[in-house]
Amino acid sequence: MFLRYNAKNCFQKGLAGMDVRAAFLDFFKQKGHRVYDSMPLVPNDASLLFTNAGMVQFKDIFTGKLPRPEIPRATSSQICMRAGGKHNDLENVGYTARHHTLFEMLGNFSFGDYFKQEAIAYAWELVTKVLGFDEKVLYVSVHESDDEAFRIWSEYIDPNKIARMGDKDNFWQMGDVGACGPCSEIYVDQGSEFFHSNEDYFGGEGDRFLEIWNLVFMQYERDESGSLKPLPSPSIDTGMGLERVVALKEGKINNFDTSLFAPLMRCIENLTQEAYISDDVLLRGSYTQEEYERIKARISSFRVIADHARSVAFLLAQGVHFDKEGRGYVLRRILRRAVRHGYLLGLKEAFLYKVIESLAQSMQGAYPYLLERKDAIIKQCKSEEERFLETIDAGMELFNKELYAMGFSSTQSLREFHANAPKTRFSGKVAFRLYDTYGFPLDLTQDMLRDKGIEVDMQDFQSHMDAQKQRSKASWKGSGDSAQEGDFKEIVSEFGENSFVGYDTDCVHTKILALLDSTFKRVHSLEAASEGYVFLHTTPFYPESGGPIGDRGVLLDSQGQVCASVSDTKKYFGLNISQVRICKELKQSQEVVAQVDHMRAEIAKHHSATHLLHLSLRKILGEYIAQAGSLVEAHRLRFDFSHNKPLSQEEIERIESDVNAQICAANPQICETMPLEVAKSKGAMALFGEKYAQNVRVVSFGDSIELCGGIHVANTAQIGSFYIIKESGVSSGVRRIEAVCGYAAYEWGKKALETLKNAKDMLKTQDVPLGIAKIQSQLKEFKQASSRVANNLKGLAYEQVGVYQLAISKLEGIQSAEAKAAIDEAKNKYQNVAILLITENYGKVFIAAGVKNAPLKAGAWVKEVAQILGGNGGGRDDFATAGGKDVANINKALEYARAFALEHLKC
Ligand code: ALA
Repeated sequence: MFLRYNAKNCFQKGLAGMDVRAAFLDFFKQKGHRVYDSMPLVPNDASLLFTNAGMVQFKDIFTGKLPRPEIPRATSSQICMRAGGKHNDLENVGYTARHHTLFEMLGNFSFGDYFKQEAIAYAWELVTKVLGFDEKVLYVSVHESDDEAFRIWSEYIDPNKIARMGDKDNFWQMGDVGACGPCSEIYVDQGSEFFHSNEDYFGGEGDRFLEIWNLVFMQYERDESGSLKPLPSPSIDTGMGLERVVALKEGKINNFDTSLFAPLMRCIENLTQEAYISDDVLLRGSYTQEEYERIKARISSFRVIADHARSVAFLLAQGVHFDKEGRGYVLRRILRRAVRHGYLLGLKEAFLYKVIESLAQSMQGAYPYLLERKDAIIKQCKSEEERFLETIDAGMELFNKELYAMGFSSTQSLREFHANAPKTRFSGKVAFRLYDTYGFPLDLTQDMLRDKGIEVDMQDFQSHMDAQKQRSKASWKGSGDSAQEGDFKEIVSEFGENSFVGYDTDCVHTKILALLDSTFKRVHSLEAASEGYVFLHTTPFYPESGGPIGDRGVLLDSQGQVCASVSDTKKYFGLNISQVRICKELKQSQEVVAQVDHMRAEIAKHHSATHLLHLSLRKILGEYIAQAGSLVEAHRLRFDFSHNKPLSQEEIERIESDVNAQICAANPQICETMPLEVAKSKGAMALFGEKYAQNVRVVSFGDSIELCGGIHVANTAQIGSFYIIKESGVSSGVRRIEAVCGYAAYEWGKKALETLKNAKDMLKTQDVPLGIAKIQSQLKEFKQASSRVANNLKGLAYEQVGVYQLAISKLEGIQSAEAKAAIDEAKNKYQNVAILLITENYGKVFIAAGVKNAPLKAGAWVKEVAQILGGNGGGRDDFATAGGKDVANINKALEYARAFALEHLKC
């Protein structure tokens, strides 16, 4: 008889599943930790695809790139994504009890404050006292080399329940580079009721012993070469998977069976009219193997959909868009995987957006922005689903055809198939076609093959992929910051951050605190003609920030002479730094006058116009419009926003006119600082992914209210006027407006008027449309005439006279030039030819003749004929023209021309 207990018994006291998050944060708050918000899923770090752990927002603090915060302890519940990149769980989702693409990680962090002793003490207290796990079910692992952690844990737990494990399990790092260290994990024994494989012992590969919390003892930083160097001070980073702890609390052996996912499962049940079955129910039920496998496959599809709905919703809410590459492509892959699983459940129309709707409701408590942006998310999701649904049938057909060709039929059992199958690799070429033509990402095809135990021939797939890349020469654009770490760290610790004074002035007397050369190395001076970076004590230069480009200007010495030109200003590691080109040597500690370029006023106009445009778009297209990117320069602005279809001409005109109405209203700028919550309640538009402080700067012009740190006009009237010059698509669901205002609008208008003037001159009329109408009608006439010519010439009859071709004809509605062209053509066509054409235009007769290799002189020929027509003419032997006026004699002239020619040709 085995001793049995299930997860429900693990708890000595109850906590509602959803309270785990609050209990965790509160516990660490009580222990002096500052509670941080979850950072965006898209980190400001090119080496990382998504935020994959709670420590990502603190990574530069661990390595000492950023100064230690005043409170050196932190705690958070971080939304993490593990799809693509170093920690990628995508392919396991739905098939295991614990994997998610998106999950919440609870963590506590120490920045050179406490270390192993306290981290372990806190963890033990939280797990046993707050979460109430019975000590009996707890186990621990430490890194094989970590005697200290082993010793500390022995104070709390029987040493027989502490396992030493290698790097694979007990050494943690965020990515290929960055802070890392040995770790220690806490496990919960889930009991033997559902787990009886040979691997279900502590340290085995089975699922019975479930890891709930990872305590990382951050001690090193790994660099690009792979080597480790010690961190400035040992730190703590921990991660506890919220979903799995909730599952244990609720007595569930699968995260998807918890209350966290219940609303989504209910929604999918409604859509499919099929019941979701949790793992414990399934395992307790009695089914044949076949039934069991069928049910398992269907609940896996439920789980994939539920998981992927969460990822799609959060990524879209945070401004990631469906795309052909990078993060947007991961988003697309996730959505397509979900759609295909819906398809397996019989959902042949867009449905995921409905699951997301119920998700936004159920998670609004912790993540209100999901509900706030619900309409935009749903719109984008639905249209992306519909796009894939257009090709899914054809793709599935191709897929099934290939399986059939491999010897697999749907009636065959898997065992039979493997016994008979001639080959077990799925054609890479077909997988590539599925990808390229039908939009099936590779991992989707792999997922479809999963239950058949077949793999895609990757070499073959890759060679098709490479060939296509060669063809399209697709270029990957990284999002990295070109700045190296350099010596910024040193500057921060020496001087702290510098202050920006440019809201009030564009010119300031200041001091150079530090200089960096063009490779970001600190130097004492920069000599004439060199380039580098300057860190000023107070600076009027506004750093590039999302939309507006960085300020430019000059640095003047005490004699008022320019010693450097400033070509750009940016924030590097929190410091406001300007890029300079040196005219006269600059030295550290030198005093200078920093003067912003006058073009800043034009940048400010475009920046303020961007705010007005944002408001107009929301008024005219809908409240769901969300900014997806912006560029503000002195000569133009560019604004990207979520919207599914091109704007109509009418919409563009309405938007343009609404912005101009806001300009004409002469709304003054009101700039206030207020708590974030107050700003939001006033309806201020905030951008996702921006980190806003407790108190935020709010810039308003009339009804336009935005959180913004930038420089603006004092009154909208200064913007002058506003023109939309282009509307285009950037990627699926994202449109772009390009516009000009201020002086650039004047220049744009001037150029348009110049073009108009040139057109008037060329048309020789003041009325351009009338002039163009005339040209159009002439063009029409000309086209008709040319088609007449072509028809006439087609009908030109040649008579064979001996070895010669003879043609004599009257052509209708033909100009002299066309008659000449016809003669040239005849000469090109025949070796021996004589041709004479007569045309009549407005009472005048024109005669042209051509002769090639024939005993007839064209000059004499036309001369004779012209006399009959009351005219005259002549020319060379091979070509001649003449005019005449006796229209009535044309037939007679033709007869005569023929007689004359025959006479010469026959002799
Ligand atoms: N950063 C550690 C992890 O993600 C805690 O497991």
